[in-house]
Amino acid sequence: MERTTLISPAEIEQQLSHCQAVAELTAQWPDRPLAFVDTYGCQQNEADSERIRGFLAKMGFGFTASEEEARIIVINTCAIREHAEQRVFGNVGALVHVKRRHPDTLICLCGCMAQQPHVAKKIRESYRHVDLVFGPHALWRFPEMVHTLLTQRGRAFSVDDEAGSIAEGIPVVRQDRIKAWVSIMYGCNNFCSYCIVPYTRGRERSREPEVILGEIAELAAQGYKDITLLGQNVNSYGKDLEGGWDFPRLLERAAAIPGEFLLRFMTSHPKDATEKLFDVMARCEKVAPVIHLPFQSGNTRVLTAMNRRYSREQYLDKVDALRRRIPNVVLTSDVIVGFPGETTEEFEDTLSLIEQVRFDALFTFIYSPRKGTPAAELPDPQPRGEKSANFDRLVEVQNRISLEKHRAYIGSVQRCLIDGAGEDPRSSLNARTAGGRLVHLDGDPALIGRFADVRITGCSTWALFGELV
Ligand code: 5AD
Ligand code: SF4
Repeated sequence: MERTTLISPAEIEQQLSHCQAVAELTAQWPDRPLAFVDTYGCQQNEADSERIRGFLAKMGFGFTASEEEARIIVINTCAIREHAEQRVFGNVGALVHVKRRHPDTLICLCGCMAQQPHVAKKIRESYRHVDLVFGPHALWRFPEMVHTLLTQRGRAFSVDDEAGSIAEGIPVVRQDRIKAWVSIMYGCNNFCSYCIVPYTRGRERSREPEVILGEIAELAAQGYKDITLLGQNVNSYGKDLEGGWDFPRLLERAAAIPGEFLLRFMTSHPKDATEKLFDVMARCEKVAPVIHLPFQSGNTRVLTAMNRRYSREQYLDKVDALRRRIPNVVLTSDVIVGFPGETTEEFEDTLSLIEQVRFDALFTFIYSPRKGTPAAELPDPQPRGEKSANFDRLVEVQNRISLEKHRAYIGSVQRCLIDGAGEDPRSSLNARTAGGRLVHLDGDPALIGRFADVRITGCSTWALFGELV
């Protein structure tokens, strides 16, 4: 099978020469060239922004958090819900003042919003201070686009729809020295009826296992302690590869890499999360005992309308199979309230599933119609107020469960990764349990980046409190 999706090394080399050419230009600027990269949305976007920063660093840019100081502003956007889009439109609109004060500042908009034709059109017509618009598919050509704009001026739009490609060898500037993301695949083939992602990020395509394992080994050698394998649906990994690769096999190989680190992964579509995966999680000490398994709805009719391809019962069976192998597994999930046509009884099924499964944490969303998705065409008679009321009920139930689950930690000793400074002087450090729960504690900042045993002494709905053992 020929992999037509791979961008050739020569093409990446060419992009790096564009970086070099831009570096020669920026070296002559009177002030130090600075860039501001603002990221919305999911971890995949965070990972993309690290590649954008990688390119920018090669172009000679340093980084700032100030739009005023920046000579290039990159806004990496999310399209998953309308609210996220409105925030971006608001912030991008406000940049017109920055552009007025600094006409030479390049303003770039990228990510999933940019990939949607109606958004690109709106930016083209009504946000004329935006110089460059490009979707996820064009990210690897960012240096070339910047080079062209700096030498020829004008505006550029790279938002053509495509199935998507894989570009290896793009430089990265990572945001953290303890935690790292590693994309193992891109795109999604599931077409859940509410979701825009398959339209903005293209078809599923897997990176070569050797490249991924090499990257993880390098991160482990650099001292990274917490490595998250990323994909819209990691359990589809390898379907497009030769050699019988699948996600459990990749995970097991990654867990065999020497070093003191934990492996996590997200996201897992329940229909593709297999017992083989749960076995690997149970068997491998380096794989954190945690899984994010979005259920979206507790009602089978709604799940069918969502095109999720599992029933309530099948979801519950998966959770049983998982907990049989890892009784203390930390289980988190996503849920949508107010899908078009959802009745009160169907919503009650979602509540009852939450009570039955008792998730450790839940990401709760009110349905947001996305232009171009099948669900956006469905009749949606339920008033917004009713959806909000259901949403509030659901959050209340989950908060109670989260608190009960946290209380059960009190008195236990948890091996935690100390991952940063706390905001409160009485809890100067933040840590994460292997299952990813946040712990506040007091201690020497020199411990940041180390694993330590922490006795849990208290909790709230959102976090645990502890002390070093
Ligand atoms: N409306 C509300 N929530 C959505 N999600 C995805 N698309 C939508 C939408 N149109 C939620 C799902 C998904 C999470 C990342 O965002 O729960 O798992
Ligand atoms: Fe969207 Fe469904 Fe793909 Fe997740 S699996 S990215 S919800 S289409």
